[in-house]
Amino acid sequence: MRKHGGKHYYGYGDIHRSVRKLAEEITASGYVPDLTVAIGTGGFIPARILKTYLRKPILTVGVVYYDENNTPMPYPTTVQWIDEVEKKLAGRRVLLVDEVDDSRATLAYCLRELLRHGPAEIAVAVIHNKRKPKRDTLPPEVKRYYCGEEVDDAWICYPWDAHDIDEHEQLAAPVPTAD
Ligand code: G4P
Ligand code: MG
Repeated sequence: MRKHGGKHYYGYGDIHRSVRKLAEEITASGYVPDLTVAIGTGGFIPARILKTYLRKPILTVGVVYYDENNTPMPYPTTVQWIDEVEKKLAGRRVLLVDEVDDSRATLAYCLRELLRHGPAEIAVAVIHNKRKPKRDTLPPEVKRYYCGEEVDDAWICYPWDAHDIDEHEQLAAPVPTAD
């Protein structure tokens, strides 16, 4: 990871290493999820990397910030659930995955919705948690929260958002040290 102009650039290798650490933390804690639920779209790639280590199936949910007139809303109020997700939650241990815990609004909203479908437990896993005042709180049922890294409140540039991945990886690469 490297900083440029107040933004923090993470390469694919940085992300993969953080997710591996996350998977090891989850396993070491004794939590064995039956399935993961990825919050689209930022949670898709971390969820896929987690699957390499945890070997659990991935279901996905999409969160929408726009109303029917395409006007931005302050909170996520509409979720595009894949119907199958709801049916598969009852009695299962779930791992909800996203890339970043920023305002916490999306996570809190998704957790409240998923809890309505009777899972045995839901845990949260994010690559990055920003140290900042949060706009929402996790429901009390959520006892396990895993994060790859606690980070300062700055804009994170993820590799999957890059239009020029070679330029991005150069920006993200650590400064070479003289030996
Ligand atoms: P949270 O509940 O997980 O904290 O997310 P929050 O609602 O605060 O975030 C709103 C959107 O902003 C989310 O994307 C989140 O991924 C994105 N976001 C927040 N901080 C950063 C950051 O530092 N870098 C980047 N690249 N994105 C950030 P979304 O609307 O759900 O879209 P998507 O990109 O996941 O599809
Ligand atoms: Mg997101």
